[in-house]
Amino acid sequence: MPRNLKTYPTLNADVLVIGSGAAGMATALALAPLNVLLVTKTEGLVGGSTAHAQGGIATVFAKGDTPALHADDTHFAGAGLTDKAAVNHLTTEGSKVVEQLLALGMPFDRDAKGNILVGLEAAHSMARIVHAGGDATGWHLSQTLAAAVEKARHIQVVSNTHIAELVKKNGKLTGAWGFNTQDGWLKLQAANVVLATGGAGQMFSHTTNPAASTGDGIALAYEAGATLADLEFVQFHPTSLAVKTPDGKQPLLTEALRGSGGKLVNKNGERFMLNLHKDAELAPRDVVARGVWAELAADRTPYLDVRHIANVETKFPTVTRLCAEYGLTPATDLLPVAPAAHYYMGGVRTDLAGKTDVPGLWAVGEVAVTGVHGANRLASNSLLECLVFAKSAATDIKQIEKQNVKIGTTPPRLTLVKHAAATKQNLRDTMYKSAGLVREKQGLENGIQKLATLQNLPALIATGDDIPQAIELHNLMTLAPLVLTAALARTESRGGHMRSDYPTTQSTHKKSILINKLQSTSKVEKEGVYRNETAA
Ligand code: FAD
Ligand code: SIN
Repeated sequence: MPRNLKTYPTLNADVLVIGSGAAGMATALALAPLNVLLVTKTEGLVGGSTAHAQGGIATVFAKGDTPALHADDTHFAGAGLTDKAAVNHLTTEGSKVVEQLLALGMPFDRDAKGNILVGLEAAHSMARIVHAGGDATGWHLSQTLAAAVEKARHIQVVSNTHIAELVKKNGKLTGAWGFNTQDGWLKLQAANVVLATGGAGQMFSHTTNPAASTGDGIALAYEAGATLADLEFVQFHPTSLAVKTPDGKQPLLTEALRGSGGKLVNKNGERFMLNLHKDAELAPRDVVARGVWAELAADRTPYLDVRHIANVETKFPTVTRLCAEYGLTPATDLLPVAPAAHYYMGGVRTDLAGKTDVPGLWAVGEVAVTGVHGANRLASNSLLECLVFAKSAATDIKQIEKQNVKIGTTPPRLTLVKHAAATKQNLRDTMYKSAGLVREKQGLENGIQKLATLQNLPALIATGDDIPQAIELHNLMTLAPLVLTAALARTESRGGHMRSDYPTTQSTHKKSILINKLQSTSKVEKEGVYRNETAA
């Protein structure tokens, strides 16, 4: 080794799992007895969107419900782009998750007789949402999984570590470079890598997603040559609390409030959803979001009215706490609402085992496109997807022969623009304006131009404390133009993608847009159905 070559702390494992939300923790647990490095950029295990989930987990549990009924609802929400086999897998295996979580100690809410309660959410034909602590399901799920991870001897947790680059040798992954906020660069060596990095809501100036949701895994996979799919499909939640927040993460007013009878009214007291859909407030999420958006655009201030829900504050303690932070009381106040980017249907394309098309790379959870959500996700199906596909990916990885691998000696060199915070905000504003709820050609083209200007701003080599920010901004800058490109290419409206210049759904466009950095010079590689069977 040359004398002056710097060495970096090195950690080895059979599997590197990146992310400690529901997907990452469930995958790491299911990988036993393989050695797992579970790396997360947050301070502890509980971070990402999972801990904020309010509604619950959709699962076939109630009398009269079946995996087939759950599958029908999932296909309907997905607007023609769901994959039949993936959805069947989700709903059939999903019917077992309550038992699995009970075994780990998940404190599901029960009635006076001890039966687990199920709730109703938009576009579900049955009450099938199990929850914990009222609207604190994600928090309890995170705590339950984290307690199991902490006890598991096959898992080593590495927190405060941002993965900056996936490393490949001879076309196959061998690990990643991570930047630890105390120790600097780490070499993380493993022949199998699972991305469980969550979504990308922070790409938009209005989002329900926490600061960690910067689309890192999608950008990392793109740079490594994995195929991305469905990037134009962003789900906007209709009812985030319309207040000014310091971090751009809007407090969520869970859909379960509407499932429990909450009504949307405007400042004139009109229940505007009655005119827009037969299911009114419980119409599919994109329909409700556009209804709320239209009221805002017409300056008729939309509100969620939950004052008539009995014991609303004990049933929804998280919502009550979040509202109190802004001086609002759900039992007595109308709650002002606005749509916010909430769930990303787009991401890294995988098969039913979470495998991507880069050897050695899997993706699980919100970062992945397994085919279960299509153009629009059914409420409360995402935690379910995390849990079901964690198991499938782990089963797949366990069949692979063990292998020792090495990554190179030089960490990535990252640059950071001078006014990074302002640039990030500029990107987020641009995305909300160009690729928000309603899109059109000129707006999307303007957005692409604006992002190109931001990408060309002068930058300096990032060092020390600047590196995490440089990683996240680089990832947002990588992903955002791809989203605009895909949205421009989809000249129709479908699911979460609404084009005012192409307002109808076209049967000829019933296919996914795939993007692969290494296989094409133009960004949109091809349009095509990526598996044979899609729902009608
Ligand atoms: P996350 O939980 O977001 O975790 C991502 C992890 O990746 C984090 O640990 C983060 O630190 C880590 N990470 C990211 N980038 C890096 C990097 N570069 N290096 C290292 N680590 C990294 N879904 C439902 O099904 N039901 C609900 O009721 C529900 N309610 C929701 C409410 C809110 C407010 C939000 C925001 C979402 C909600 N969703 C709900 C969606 C659901 O919570 C998410 O889709 C799901 O939790 C995603 O889990 P995940 O494990 O894929 O990612
Ligand atoms: C909500 O509680 O409204 C969110 C549920 C979800 O996103 O699945």
